[in-house]
Amino acid sequence: MKSYLLGLSCSRCSKEYSADEPQFLCSCGAPLLAQYDLPRAKKELDKNKLAGDSLWRYAALLPIRNKKFRLDLGEGQTPILSVPKLSKEFDLPHLFVKDESGNPGGSFKARGLSVAVSKAFELSAKEVALPTAGNAGGAAALYAARAGIKCYITMPKDTPSAFVTSARLSGATVELVDGTIAEAGIRINELNASDRFYLLSTLREPYRVEGKKTMGYELVEQFDWKLPDVIIYPTGGGTGLVGMWKAFDEMEKLGWIGPERPKMLCVQTEGCAPIVKAFQEGKEKADFWENAATMAYGLRVPSALADFIMLKLLRDSGGSAVAVSEGELVEGVKKLGTEGIFAAPEGGAALAAVWKLKASGWLQPQQKIVIFNTGSGALYAESLARYL
Ligand SMILES: Cc1ncc(COP(=O)(O)O)c(C=O)c1O
Repeated sequence: MKSYLLGLSCSRCSKEYSADEPQFLCSCGAPLLAQYDLPRAKKELDKNKLAGDSLWRYAALLPIRNKKFRLDLGEGQTPILSVPKLSKEFDLPHLFVKDESGNPGGSFKARGLSVAVSKAFELSAKEVALPTAGNAGGAAALYAARAGIKCYITMPKDTPSAFVTSARLSGATVELVDGTIAEAGIRINELNASDRFYLLSTLREPYRVEGKKTMGYELVEQFDWKLPDVIIYPTGGGTGLVGMWKAFDEMEKLGWIGPERPKMLCVQTEGCAPIVKAFQEGKEKADFWENAATMAYGLRVPSALADFIMLKLLRDSGGSAVAVSEGELVEGVKKLGTEGIFAAPEGGAALAAVWKLKASGWLQPQQKIVIFNTGSGALYAESLARYL
């Protein structure tokens, strides 16, 4: 199956760039997004003939031109689980969990990194690098190993050791820094002063979001080409929200869905909630969140490059943004455990948002609601054990 990729265009000023050489941010500083020949794909692509058991099922709408560069470790095609006990408890009969914990490396980060490292491989990168809160580093290390490309990762010093070990065991070089992913990003940029790396930092690189958008394609396909009413998503850098929204837009242009959209709900934690704060204050951009702290390390993102895209899509969708406490997210992990799901704290946060929003009347029993459990609790076992 060939890719319908045309090129890249800026998410803010629409300036166009070639996708056949390494590209990062637009000259105006905003993220670049991949564009496809959707009118042609609409004529040629049959959604009922998609084939494959990984996210490469959507390869025609992904940016890798030559099949031999696709790094496929079986990422994606994760289950949508019904949760009967929780449905009953919250009086939400149509509540589902999209469970990403079975991805390579144990999180949905596999999706973005599979596609981004494949593209780096296709563009002949010799060494990829990224700052990470944990999961993305582990996934990058796996795909770089598969491609035979070197991988350099910076992570906050207090990231649970399981994340560090897993990346190192896959052959990556891991450097630990004081602070959060913000400081890890500064360190990577210092190291890259002479453009030594092909940088994979969230949304500074255009293709991780392409991998993440497959969550949107997959969700709709799994619901027989129908959208749910609400998507509840634990948000850090925002590639998932931005990616799924892009997928819905593409699917409408392909004639696979109509103009309807789910309400998109951003969940953060009280210890780091820049998007929630900006949403509630009616702002178009978020302020830097000082002293960010939460055990949902993937949500400890004090400043997101795509803040303006996320805030717009939350509002355009009729969605909202909510922050939960550490206690609530642990409760969320425990409740998901009663359904046989060993959730990451980020997934627990998404579930905690459900009961808060139900209590406030924002969620209604007739709605079809999907929450994302973005990762496995296994790598966070040490942090979670403190609450047992
Ligand atoms: C488990 C988990 N959930 C959610 C997120 C947030 O992801 P996004 O960049 O899509 O907002 C992360 C990011 O590190 C993560 O590791």
